[in-house]
Amino acid sequence: MISAMELRYRLVEDEDGLVVATRIRVAVFVEEQGIPRELELDELDAVATHALVYDGETPIATGRVTVDDGRATIARIAVLPDHRGHGIGARIVGMLEERARQHSATVAELSPHYYLEDFYAGLGYRRVAGEEWVAGHRLIKMRKELL
Ligand SMILES: CC(C)(COP(=O)(O)OP(=O)(O)OC[C@H]1O[C@@H](n2cnc3c(N)ncnc32)[C@H](O)[C@@H]1OP(=O)(O)O)[C@@H](O)C(=O)NCCC(=O)NCCS
Repeated sequence: MISAMELRYRLVEDEDGLVVATRIRVAVFVEEQGIPRELELDELDAVATHALVYDGETPIATGRVTVDDGRATIARIAVLPDHRGHGIGARIVGMLEERARQHSATVAELSPHYYLEDFYAGLGYRRVAGEEWVAGHRLIKMRKELL
């Protein structure tokens, strides 16, 4: 059982923060979902803003945003299994959208697994045309205007 009071949410852009985010992403995307490490970690990590969530001293969730020409790309939202279903993923997306607005983004896009459409729809995203298969995973495209 986790207490919302004990959770700390941070945005980081430094090397140490990226190391922590990478550990969570490897556990969730590489080890749990079987996505190849070389696809999961990419060159955008160095220029992204990363969200980190701590339960006490333990990092439990992450996500990242990059902004290019007014368009934000939100990606790599990962909550460790024991901590899912407590609103953490939703709050990370909100934090990353806020950072994107600060960088003058007017739209946010993401490419989630098809089965997460309802999760992101609940956060104001709508599905747009286009789908891709990455390492055997079916990904859709979703978009939200950042007003
Ligand atoms: C997807 C993920 C980030 C969601 O994080 P979470 O902290 O468990 O989600 P939240 O508790 O914030 O859920 C917010 C809402 O979405 C719903 N939701 C969560 N996961 C869902 C799913 N897989 N399908 C449909 N709805 C979902 C919740 O029920 C909740 O709805 P409510 O507000 O009506 O109660 C998390 O399950 C995860 O890390 N999954 C593995 C990694 C992954 O696939 N990440 C997505 C990459 S794009």
